[in-house]
Amino acid sequence: MHRLGCLNHLRRAHEKGIKGMQKAAVTDYPVHELIRNRWSPRAFSNKSVEPAVLASLFEAARWAASSYNEQPWSYLVATKDDAENYKKMLGVLVEFNAKWAKNAPVLAISVAHRNFSHNGTPNPVAVHDVGAANAQLTAEATSRGLLVHQMAGFSHDRARKAFGIPEGWDPVSAIAIGYPGDPQSLPEDFRNSELAPRTRKPIQEFVMTGSWGHTAPFASK
Ligand SMILES: Cc1cc2nc3c(=O)[nH]c(=O)nc-3n(C[C@H](O)[C@H](O)[C@H](O)COP(=O)(O)O)c2cc1C
Repeated sequence: MHRLGCLNHLRRAHEKGIKGMQKAAVTDYPVHELIRNRWSPRAFSNKSVEPAVLASLFEAARWAASSYNEQPWSYLVATKDDAENYKKMLGVLVEFNAKWAKNAPVLAISVAHRNFSHNGTPNPVAVHDVGAANAQLTAEATSRGLLVHQMAGFSHDRARKAFGIPEGWDPVSAIAIGYPGDPQSLPEDFRNSELAPRTRKPIQEFVMTGSWGHTAPFASK
């Protein structure tokens, strides 16, 4: 969709107060719909996520590639119906994030195992591999009409204390998961960014060949 078309689409969604807003990427080159349709909302529907669906999301994370097949990921998960656990999770987020994430039916924290199990040496790609698992979780979620919003804005210390995260494991990202909600349910500042167009650097800025700063020909428009 052309950028103006996208804006009109968003404006119409805004005017109609459309629930479950979509915000597909306006891409320069064709990509799979799972990539286009993933975005990070702050409005979530209050519909809960079925346990079997949740299991599939973490199954998708499970099958991510990882260095030495270490699988250095773990997740702490809180669903809204488990009020005590959910409150604990919300308390770990910075205030800015807690303000909108409190609407998500599922909150989670991804955690990385710092060292390799086979020899105890530092795993320099542990956080990378947790990110890959999170991306797979997100793709599975998108395929099921769910949206995922990751957060760096949370207290690692509070998470460690609240959930007993052991030495050798580091929190990576907090994750809000749920079905799309109504942007009108958000306070004005969040609503504006919810309705704003999504932006990216063009691939010519970051795809190089031969030497640093030399854009790969296929990436030049
Ligand atoms: C690891 C990570 C940390 C993020 N931290 C936050 C955060 O603390 N608060 C927030 O509102 N959004 C956060 N985001 C969401 C990004 O702002 C968002 O992905 C980015 O603006 C691109 O938008 P899109 O995901 O809708 O394409 C985070 C995303 C990632 C992947």
